[in-house]
Amino acid sequence: MRTAYSVDPRGWAKFDYVKMPDYRWGILLAPQEENRVIPFGEHYGEPAWQEVPGEHRAMLRRLIVIQGDTEPASVEQQRHLGKTAPSLYDLRNLFQVNVEEGRHLWAMVYLLQKYFGRDGREEADDLLRRRSGDADSPRMLGAFNEATPDWLSFFMFTYFTDRDGKMQLHSLAQSGFDPLSRTCRFMLTEEAHHMFVGETGISRVVQRTCEAMKAAGIGDPSDVTKVRALGVVDLPTIQKKLNLHYTLSLDLFGSEVSTNAANAFNAGIKGRFHETQIKDDHRLQNSTYPVLKLVNGEIKRVDEPALTTLNMRLRDDYTQDCIKGLLRWNKIISTAGYDFKLTLPNVAFHRQIGEFKDIHATPDGVLIDDATWNKRKGEWLPSTDDGDFIASLMIPVTGVGEFASWISPPKVGIDNKPGDFEYVKIET
Ligand SMILES: [Fe+2]
Ligand SMILES: [Fe+2]
Repeated sequence: MRTAYSVDPRGWAKFDYVKMPDYRWGILLAPQEENRVIPFGEHYGEPAWQEVPGEHRAMLRRLIVIQGDTEPASVEQQRHLGKTAPSLYDLRNLFQVNVEEGRHLWAMVYLLQKYFGRDGREEADDLLRRRSGDADSPRMLGAFNEATPDWLSFFMFTYFTDRDGKMQLHSLAQSGFDPLSRTCRFMLTEEAHHMFVGETGISRVVQRTCEAMKAAGIGDPSDVTKVRALGVVDLPTIQKKLNLHYTLSLDLFGSEVSTNAANAFNAGIKGRFHETQIKDDHRLQNSTYPVLKLVNGEIKRVDEPALTTLNMRLRDDYTQDCIKGLLRWNKIISTAGYDFKLTLPNVAFHRQIGEFKDIHATPDGVLIDDATWNKRKGEWLPSTDDGDFIASLMIPVTGVGEFASWISPPKVGIDNKPGDFEYVKIET
């Protein structure tokens, strides 16, 4: 397996081949930065902690456990996809993502074991006991208990949900607790590849769909029946999958207004995205931030204290980060000559956490009643029929250099390998 085996002095992962029996679950920490100081909160400018600060112990442990819980969850959600991989190239990417998420669990468990004593060990055991989607012992966050039933979901998950992971890791990489900062900085180097798998995966699906429509002379991409008959995923269904995974991922940021977020920031435990590059006082005692709220049945921007709205701010940064992929996907569609745009749904659409959890809204942000929602939600979110259709395409392709009908080959292979490179050797 080609995987990270060390970090070089600049803190970036080095990759090389490792025989599976020789693989070790190493803990990979970015190197310690000399004289690092806490970059935000009440302890701003003080030396970073090398041991757990007693006063913030419980909060710190909880944040590590929540982050740790997501890592094995995604492996539990995705591992069955090995059976239906659309190519050896994709199978190999799945393996790499899963191995790295497993190692991210290990990194969080290492912190619990090394720095928290007995209760840290108990929390670590619980991380192994919980299972994604389990009725009695589920994972801690909603999106990590949802099924990842097919490869389109996998690409959406790695694009949207791993990107939530990126934002959380960036915030924790700012932490005044230096060992946490160092593990997160290392994990971020691997997270980038997961999002690459998602972005290029969706690009390849969109590409293949456009090519097939063109070859068949289909002018209207919304003609779902005709497009599906070609053995590719129609663009409206891709939009529905996107709506689902984006909104599940928005929920991961928690409530827009949160005293927990304020406390974690004040304590110097969890900072903002690119904290050290932001030009302000890094204490936020007197500033405000605009939050989208439901006011008298309307979605409005309201200024709130910046400290309590850190979740909202991180979520806004996340949304900005998400848009890049959409621009690329839409470019593929327009280049193929089709008038169809993938879009991010409004933040009020399909939410289970925060300001909009008790109302229904269309993807355009128009508030609607329960009856309308129940009647129309199949237009916006994947239905059972959509799921069945996608499942019907999930036929494993294991021939060297071959790809399933519904996805284009990647533009370049891994490490510039030729298109027919045998990424995975399957022994029968
Ligand atoms: Fe991860
Ligand atoms: Fe990831």
